[in-house]
Amino acid sequence: MNNLPKKNRIRVWDLPTRLFHWLLVFAFALVWLTQGDDRYLDIHLFAGYLFLGLLGFRLIWGIMGSYYAKFHNFSYNWPTVWHYLTTLFTSKRSHFIGHNPAGSWAIFIILILGLLVAVTGLITLGGEEQHGILAGVIGFATGNYFHGWHELMAWLMLAIVSLHIIGVLVESYLHRENLIKSMITGYKLSTPCDIHVKPGYFTAISLFLAVIIGTLGYFSGYFLSKAEVYRPFIGPKLIQNELWNEACGECHLSYHPNLLPMRSWQKMLSEQDNHFGEDLYLEGETILELLTFASQNAAENEFTEAAWNITHSIPLTKSPLRITKTTYWLEQHIDIPKYIWKHPDIIFQGNCGVCHLDAKLGTFEDAAMYLPN
Ligand code: HEC
Ligand code: HEC
Repeated sequence: MNNLPKKNRIRVWDLPTRLFHWLLVFAFALVWLTQGDDRYLDIHLFAGYLFLGLLGFRLIWGIMGSYYAKFHNFSYNWPTVWHYLTTLFTSKRSHFIGHNPAGSWAIFIILILGLLVAVTGLITLGGEEQHGILAGVIGFATGNYFHGWHELMAWLMLAIVSLHIIGVLVESYLHRENLIKSMITGYKLSTPCDIHVKPGYFTAISLFLAVIIGTLGYFSGYFLSKAEVYRPFIGPKLIQNELWNEACGECHLSYHPNLLPMRSWQKMLSEQDNHFGEDLYLEGETILELLTFASQNAAENEFTEAAWNITHSIPLTKSPLRITKTTYWLEQHIDIPKYIWKHPDIIFQGNCGVCHLDAKLGTFEDAAMYLPN
């Protein structure tokens, strides 16, 4: 087969299909590279939206696209897949010019899993981070629940993608035809009766432009923002209290009350004459006002992701006075190397504002974090 003359090579994958394929590979890799660390959440979301947009395009192209890209031209039932797989290593194996039956199932599963990953991701984003189209609609607990599904779907998808790659390598070997190259050039070896598809320049250019415009739009804040350090997410605004900021911001950051449960603030204010060795000299009326503000905005109200995690990680019998001694805080900061804490700007762990640009606001948004070099 290797010696077929050039005219027996036909275009099977048009440009839109190939562009879609490699952009999807790019988005998939980017999503995996940026998962797990909230500092890269902005890029993770970009990759996720790109992924979802590409899937949307593929669904349309599967109905209206060129011959080999159309779903109904590679919809095989299970017996066909089974026959294909069981005869694969025998002389009875069949050769498909478009997607083979096993490959087509991998593609349908990838498309479905991709949609599920994207939807569970949007629910996680809305619930846990109060961002995206579902912000304010979904509570933290729901978001957190779907986070698990989001990860499970992503792992399943990684498994199917791996099988897909193995399948491509096996078939390339068995049929002595480099299928990866085919997905780049679009050409495959054929018999004379196979269908030759049009290049599809117009659709490909439209898709390409849509991706470029979407990308520029997504990241435009980075170029247009006047702030010194751009924060891509502006989350829910927390209630501030002047008296609190004044009375508690004198010696350190005035920690927003959502960072500790109500009982901690009660304990702290009742012991205000011995506040970590300092006397705060607060009067009864001031204490009352501070207490009211603290109770109404304490962690139990779960206004933020941090608040939710803090309430859920402190046993009801404990009233910690230090945010930096809560399990949640320790877990979040365990990866920060020791030498960073020795940085002259930091001085002590409670100096949150050095690394969290929104520490004063109390939101502790993922995108507002950075480490001093
Ligand atoms: C006179 C100075 C002073 C004032 C005013 C003050 N604090 Fe403090 N605060 C301290 C010191 C000192 C520490 C201990 C810092 C250390 O050693 O880490 C501390 C620690 C804390 C911590 C623990 C930080 C951590 O490590 O997680 C919290 C919470 C806190 N203060 C809340 C308050 C609140 C609420 C108020 C207002 C009612 C307030 N502070 C007013 C001096 C002050
Ligand atoms: C030395 C820099 C530094 C200081 C100081 C610091 N943090 Fe952080 N914090 C980080 C980094 C980095 C992360 C991200 C960890 C990750 O995602 O892997 C983080 C994560 C967090 C998170 C989790 C955010 C999320 O949504 O995932 C919260 C909440 C938080 N910090 C609160 C605080 C508070 C409150 C203080 C002060 C008492 C503080 N941090 C002090 C660097 C710092």
